[in-house]
Amino acid sequence: MNEKNFRKIRIYGDPVLRQRASEIPTISPEIRFLMTQMKETMQNARGVGLAAPQVGESIRVIVVMFGADTDQSSIRGLINPEIIWHSEETDMCEEGCLSVPDTSARIKRWIEIKVRAVDEEGNPVEFSASNLTARIIQHEIDHLDGILFIDRLSMLKQEIIVRKLKKALKKETPRM
Ligand code: NI
Repeated sequence: MNEKNFRKIRIYGDPVLRQRASEIPTISPEIRFLMTQMKETMQNARGVGLAAPQVGESIRVIVVMFGADTDQSSIRGLINPEIIWHSEETDMCEEGCLSVPDTSARIKRWIEIKVRAVDEEGNPVEFSASNLTARIIQHEIDHLDGILFIDRLSMLKQEIIVRKLKKALKKETPRM
């Protein structure tokens, strides 16, 4: 990892997290470099996924740790990812987000999905993902649509979390 590649992670309240990110027409050296930065920023923060809006770029690029719950994990970038099929079956698991500090909640996600995207080499790909990998991809694609995981909770739970978040974020502001 190269510290120079670390990008600042945008935190709850930053408007870029609420925008719908744009598709990108082609892969370019800039996009490849962005993916390198995103992978290193994610690893440094001990995350298992990161979406471009989280580093302030409103474009449809994500990085995902595939097989994070197995011995053989690998981090790969995906461009313009979309879910083209999902199982009816869902499960509830505890989830957190690098942009929502000190917060986690049980979120319902599809257990299995089929994804269409462009890979890091610029090739169109289609693949299936399940369990944690499927959950990460659903979470990251939500980011591309301006959705945070807490939006998927009941209004009551959201209100409690948002109140706590606003209090915590206020505390971090230096007063002079
Ligand atoms: Ni997130």
